Amino acid sequence: MAAENITVSPLSGRLGCEIAGADLANLSQDTFTAIYQAFLDHQVIVLHNQSLSPDDLLAVAARFGPLADYPFAKGMDSHPDITEIIKEPDQTSNFGGMWHSDTTYLPEPPKCTLLYAVEIPPRGGDTLFADMCGAFESLSDGLQETLQSLKAVSTSDLNAASLRGDHLESGSMARKTRQSSHLQSVHPVVRTHPETGRRALFVNPAHTACFEAMDRAESKPLLDHLFAHSIQPELTSRVKWAPGTLVVWDNRCSQHCAINDYDGHRRVMRRITIAGDKPA
Ligand code: SIN
Repeated sequence: MAAENITVSPLSGRLGCEIAGADLANLSQDTFTAIYQAFLDHQVIVLHNQSLSPDDLLAVAARFGPLADYPFAKGMDSHPDITEIIKEPDQTSNFGGMWHSDTTYLPEPPKCTLLYAVEIPPRGGDTLFADMCGAFESLSDGLQETLQSLKAVSTSDLNAASLRGDHLESGSMARKTRQSSHLQSVHPVVRTHPETGRRALFVNPAHTACFEAMDRAESKPLLDHLFAHSIQPELTSRVKWAPGTLVVWDNRCSQHCAINDYDGHRRVMRRITIAGDKPA
């Protein structure tokens, strides 16, 4: 299959791009190589007007690497590696409605996530992304140096750990919780991207509870500063979905937040995560 001529258009000054001219259901290796380079360069890639069956979606996902398990939800009966994220018109909370990088409470959090839009509300339901390399690079030299010696604890249940609610178990969303106890991992606060070599801030308000060997009250002022610093408008971009939009984001260097502004309407997405490595 010959390479298609794709065009890559940045979504904002910092991260994210739209890729046009690729048919993901019939993808040559050369075209995938160009798409993968755009993924590394832009952290978030957006491809509109795709027509992907669950099998097609799995085939696209497998190009990014081995599939990962999502511990808190059961997959589709026909395709257990795909999690359907559904918000019904009568539901008020949404999945992923707090800034986060996916499942950082796992020892090896996923490298990237594919999210495919099946049904989208008539307005709203966009997703925000933040550039965590930019977040690190725009800190002062002094704070950059301090953070590089720190580790932080990520938990799947910040309620149990006493401060904030865990958005992932708060309402609508993915079918049936599979994992009953909460999960916890310790990661470097600054990680080096294994493919680009860039350093990224690796804390997020949904899962990061405290710095290692510090309590939550001691950790909170600096964590709150880092959380607010990371999502300043200059470091973000916004994705507007339509049925057939596929977005792939790099969890090693970005955060995202699903905007919950479409009560009364249905939103249906299919989600796959790709296995990652131990943050270093
Ligand atoms: C997620 O956090 O994985 C879901 C994002 C979205 O639904 O836009």
